[in-house]
Amino acid sequence: VARRAAAREDQFARLAPHYDALMAPVPYQAWADYISDLALLAQRPIMEGTRLLDLATGTGSVALEFAARGCEVTGLDLSEPMLVEARRKAEQRGLRAELVQADLSDFRLPRQYNHAVCLYDSLNYLLEPELLERAFANVRAALVPTGLFIFDVNTVHALEAELFTQTSPTNAAVRYRWVSKYDRRKCITEVEMHFEVAQTGEVFDIVHYQRAYTDAELRSLLHRAGLDVLLTFAAYRLTAPTVTSDRVFYVAAPRATAEEP
Ligand SMILES: C[S@@+](CC[C@H](N)C(=O)[O-])C[C@H]1O[C@@H](n2cnc3c(N)ncnc32)[C@H](O)[C@@H]1O
Repeated sequence: VARRAAAREDQFARLAPHYDALMAPVPYQAWADYISDLALLAQRPIMEGTRLLDLATGTGSVALEFAARGCEVTGLDLSEPMLVEARRKAEQRGLRAELVQADLSDFRLPRQYNHAVCLYDSLNYLLEPELLERAFANVRAALVPTGLFIFDVNTVHALEAELFTQTSPTNAAVRYRWVSKYDRRKCITEVEMHFEVAQTGEVFDIVHYQRAYTDAELRSLLHRAGLDVLLTFAAYRLTAPTVTSDRVFYVAAPRATAEEP
């Protein structure tokens, strides 16, 4: 029951004010370069003026990076507290991005985009295949026929290997201790997360749930939503995933139909 509720719940509300401090080591600029390389490999480059949809944008780090590169960006996220941080950052940096609160499995936007991205295992937070299929269908509807959808997932291997069981360095601004427990039958991991904010002494605990999807499941759900996989990569590399890849990137595109040659 807790897991079912979690699928719809904002699992990031408590974390939002500390998310960017926690992510300080994440090379978001390099991620944007990598996404651009994948789009180029699929022969549909991201350029100035490209309309880009950043799904599960969180605090908008990737969205704002592409806005700085001249893209017209919309960021969408379930968590209003995460979007508050994104809006603050956009204002601080003088960047324009439309930031929309919505659920991946239940959104429709008034315009279409050249490309959509969804990064940092955000799709693993959709805990039921039906929700993921609906999210894919919504992405399909949001893309122009020549669009690309680039996303990453934590693999079954990553969750089976309990890669979420982690402890931060003791000198981190936001210290954490995470312990994950993977249920192989349900393909869902439960991560008990303990945080300590060094500056304020604030301490809090939250629980996150993620579901692992096999490559075959992802392809099938994408297909049912009218999207086909063009390319897959071991994360941040330009080589194919292997059985021990913990994160895989997918480059998918709307399936061409008779009406859309
Ligand atoms: C790990 S964070 C990644 C944020 C951002 N993409 C990044 O790279 O920093 C996952 C994000 O997914 C969002 N999320 C989870 N479930 C969602 C849903 N059903 N609809 C929209 N956003 C969702 C969370 O609110 C959170 O901001």
